[in-house]
Amino acid sequence: MTQARTGAPALARTRPELADALAARPAGGRAVVMTMGALHAGHLSLVREARARGEQVVVTIFVNPLQFGPAEDLDRYPRDLDGDLALLTGPDLLGEGDVVLAPTPDVVYPDGDPGVRVSAGPVGTVYEGATRPGHLDGVLTVVLKLMHLVAPDVALFGRKDVQQLAAVRRMVRDLDVPVEVVGVPTVRDADGLALSSRNAYLSAAEREQALALSRALAAGRAAAGAGHDADAVRAAARDVLDGAAVGTDYVALVDPVTFEDVAGDAGALSGRTAVLALAATVGATRLIDNSDVRWA
Ligand code: PAF
Repeated sequence: MTQARTGAPALARTRPELADALAARPAGGRAVVMTMGALHAGHLSLVREARARGEQVVVTIFVNPLQFGPAEDLDRYPRDLDGDLALLTGPDLLGEGDVVLAPTPDVVYPDGDPGVRVSAGPVGTVYEGATRPGHLDGVLTVVLKLMHLVAPDVALFGRKDVQQLAAVRRMVRDLDVPVEVVGVPTVRDADGLALSSRNAYLSAAEREQALALSRALAAGRAAAGAGHDADAVRAAARDVLDGAAVGTDYVALVDPVTFEDVAGDAGALSGRTAVLALAATVGATRLIDNSDVRWA
C-alpha cells in the first residue's frame, strides 16, 4: 500500500536544483515519468503507477525540440507549467520528497544542438519514424539524457506511444541502461478517444471525427477475433478510417518488440499478439492510437 503524500514536490529548473532535490530522496527506489507537459488524466495514471513503485517520484516536463520536425507543432505545443504543477500535487500523486524537473532547452542542451544523438535503429525508420524522420532519435536522445540526470530505478511510459515504448525498451536493452521500463495502459474518454495533449487542438466536430481511430482499432480486433488473417485485420481498420473524415497516415500491424510487419493466416498467427497502430490527421491535428490484437 502506497503512503499518501502531503506537501508539495520540489520544482527544479536547473541542474544544481535537480541535484539538491534528488539528494532529499527518502529511503527506497526512484521512479520517473517523462512528459512534455499539458498534462491530462493519462499522465496522472503514469504518476500514480510511479507512486506505487517509487518512494521518490520525479516527473519531467520538457518540450524537447529535438523530436519535432521543421514543419511540426513545436511552437504551438501547449505549455502550462502552473496548471501542470497543480494537477500533479495530491495524496496519490506528488508531495514532499518528490520532484518536478522543468528545465529550459539550454539546461538540457547546454552546448546547443547535440552533435551526438541516439539512433533508434530499425524501429525508428518505420511508421512514426517514416512519417517523422529523426523523431524517435530525438526522443531517445532526451530520454537517455533524462535517465542519466535523474538516475531512476524505474521509468514509466504510456502505451499510447507504443512505437516510442518499443524504441525505449530497445535502447535500454542494447545500451545496458540500468533502468526498468514499464508500459502503462492508455487512458480513454468514455467514448473511446485516447487522451492526448494534442486533443486540445480539436474542435468539437473534429473530436467527433477523431473517434474513427478507436472504432478502427475495434474493427481490427474484431477481425482477428473472427479468425481473419493479418491483411484482413489491416483492411478492417483501414475501411473505418477511409469511411470517416480523417486523413489516414498508416495502419500498421506489427510485432510489439521489433515493429516488423506481421503476416499470415489465423492458423499461423494462433496464440500470437500483435500491435495494431494507427496514425491519422483530423483537421490539422495528427493523432495516433493503438491496440493489442490477438488470434485465439
Ligand atoms: O512521450 C512524450 O511525452 C515524449 O516523447 C517524451 C518521452 C517525454 C520525450 O520527450
